[in-house]
Amino acid sequence: MPVRYVFSKWKKTRILQNTSLKRYIPKTAVYNSSRLVEMLSRYKMVYVKPDTGTHGKGVMRATRHFDASFELREGISTYSFNSVDQLNTRIKSRIGKRKYLVQQGIHMMTYQGRKFDLRVLIQKNLNNQWEAMSIFGRKAAANKIVTNVSNGGKMESLSTLMRPHMNKSSISELRRELNQMGLSVGKQLSENYQGLKELGLDIALDKSMRPWILEVNTKPAIYVYRTFDPSAYRRILRNARAYGRFK
Ligand SMILES: Nc1ncnc2c1ncn2[C@@H]1O[C@H](COP(=O)(O)OP(=O)(O)OP(=O)(O)O)[C@@H](O)[C@H]1O
Ligand SMILES: [Mg+2]
Repeated sequence: MPVRYVFSKWKKTRILQNTSLKRYIPKTAVYNSSRLVEMLSRYKMVYVKPDTGTHGKGVMRATRHFDASFELREGISTYSFNSVDQLNTRIKSRIGKRKYLVQQGIHMMTYQGRKFDLRVLIQKNLNNQWEAMSIFGRKAAANKIVTNVSNGGKMESLSTLMRPHMNKSSISELRRELNQMGLSVGKQLSENYQGLKELGLDIALDKSMRPWILEVNTKPAIYVYRTFDPSAYRRILRNARAYGRFK
């Protein structure tokens, strides 16, 4: 069976929203003006992102301030608006005809003053069972609203990022929990899409260390493990060859 990819974030999110993983999924909807108004009154900070985007391209962050003014961030630019209509006009001009999502914003934990999130990789192993392979963190570049390495983000180990907040045994427990979450996501998405072989979960920890699944990539980068986690990389490559990623 050929390797299956699902690029629409909305399709994957909608499936997970209807499972026991729901509590880890930030509230997400297809963008339109009234949904943005609704979401901003509920969450104050939301992400507006392309349904099929990659590398953090086109990702925006909208915030409602106490004085009912609004702010939009994109890249390192910031725009201010006096009304939500002005905000929507600006967002629409950026979106054009593309499909966009609006998602509850997660206030990420920081390391040395930089936001970070985590990438959990799971793969179908040689026995065609989902297996958790490796976790790394990505620390955002200064003043960026995304953590993507292609946007200046830096890879860090989970233990480096969490050491200021927890002891070693709690970090191991967190690692187990995140891997378990990855395996459950694999199980749920596989029920809807046969042929999935590898998944990269983007997970944010909020200020109370609660994990949130921002998105699930069906074609995660694997070369990054070569230097970051060589022993995992050997197993990752072995699996990938077996399911025909390189054909
Ligand atoms: N709801 C959210 N709350 C906080 N930060 C978010 C949220 N959604 C996205 N981000 C930040 O923006 C980054 C990019 O968003 P996302 O991963 O959804 O799209 P993408 O990176 O363009 O897709 P891909 O990872 O497939 O290339 C995330 O890694 C994260 O740093
Ligand atoms: Mg991503």
